[in-house]
Amino acid sequence: MAASIIYLDNSATTALLPGVAAVADRMLADNYGNPSSLHGLGVNAEKALAAARRQVANLIGARPGEIFFTSGGTEANNTAVWGISRARRRQGKHIITTAIEHPSLLAACRRLEAEGYEVTCLPVDACGIIRLSDLEAALRDDTILVSVMSVNNELGSLQPLAAVARLVHTKSRAALHVDHIQGYGKIPLQCSATGIDLMSLSSHKIHGPKGAGALYVKEGLRLEPLLVGGDQEGGLRAGTENTAGIAAFGLAAALAAAEMAARAERLRQIKMALVAGLLQAISGARINGPDPEAAAPHIVNISFPGIRAEVLVHMLEQRGIYVSTGSACHSRRQDSSHVLQALHLERWRLEGAIRISLGALNRLEEVEPAVTAFKECIRELWTLSGYSEPVPLK
Ligand SMILES: Cc1ncc(COP(=O)(O)O)c(C=O)c1O
Repeated sequence: MAASIIYLDNSATTALLPGVAAVADRMLADNYGNPSSLHGLGVNAEKALAAARRQVANLIGARPGEIFFTSGGTEANNTAVWGISRARRRQGKHIITTAIEHPSLLAACRRLEAEGYEVTCLPVDACGIIRLSDLEAALRDDTILVSVMSVNNELGSLQPLAAVARLVHTKSRAALHVDHIQGYGKIPLQCSATGIDLMSLSSHKIHGPKGAGALYVKEGLRLEPLLVGGDQEGGLRAGTENTAGIAAFGLAAALAAAEMAARAERLRQIKMALVAGLLQAISGARINGPDPEAAAPHIVNISFPGIRAEVLVHMLEQRGIYVSTGSACHSRRQDSSHVLQALHLERWRLEGAIRISLGALNRLEEVEPAVTAFKECIRELWTLSGYSEPVPLK
């Protein structure tokens, strides 16, 4: 590994903030009780869980009792989709989601399809945003769940959630689930004020540890549990809680809440400087999805002509620059991402797409060396492949 690195893959995962790691350490070493135990060690662990529940809830305007801890975002998404669909199966079997959701959401829907549920996947426009008219047309009397993500993990596109919520609640009896895993701590979103019934969160995208996440469930909403065999988390999620991970998640959420506006402003500045630098340095480069100014502050997806993204990722790594070809889940597979495909991009843009994603630890001073590394690597690849620049690619 290069001596100093520039980590630009924060949508895959983030580094722990120092204080956050210390909380996890203390829980593992000292506060190791089982929160279900009646004795003092158990009570102390339960107190740590309760504090984390307040911290996680606070960032989305929820009540602590509406937060159910899970093993991460994937489990939160699976629980939301499966839990509501099973609980409402006598009311209907129609689910609406979007073509650009995370695989943990889409795969849960696919599994339900095999059980006789019907899933409508809304398309997106060239900016990676759904059309409200499509949603309105898709809503039916038997729609039991609408699931729309807040921030797309590959493009940074933002969905019009307030309008989505209004439509869902005026035109149907469906519950509204939001995968807020990429938006949590980056954009302000209050669940009850917005009309969101279920919301998925994950610790490791906000500088907390992996293996902890949460599902917000609006008070009174009934879900069937995915995991059974214990009455932890109000019976919605059986199994002894990951107390160290959850306590650290709580602190990461509290830090994100305290710094959200300042962090978002800094991330946007860094992102816009990177975008300007890359578009200027590399002729033919094109942004995929939304205008970066109108997107989430920390994600941009950009295609470079005449290169294969996975080759560029490895070359950049040699120089200590860490980026991704798409979502981490896709980056080991050969096919291009379903998100980019949903934008109907030309082949060269699918093949040459790089996701750059920022976190709280990135600095403006990283922009210049990162742009230089991109420029040099791409020129080297162009020379090797005989690609002649500039070629006006469409
Ligand atoms: C939008 C989105 N949803 C869900 C997940 C899954 O979260 P986790 O890694 O915590 O299981 C991710 C992770 O990349 C994501 O970006």
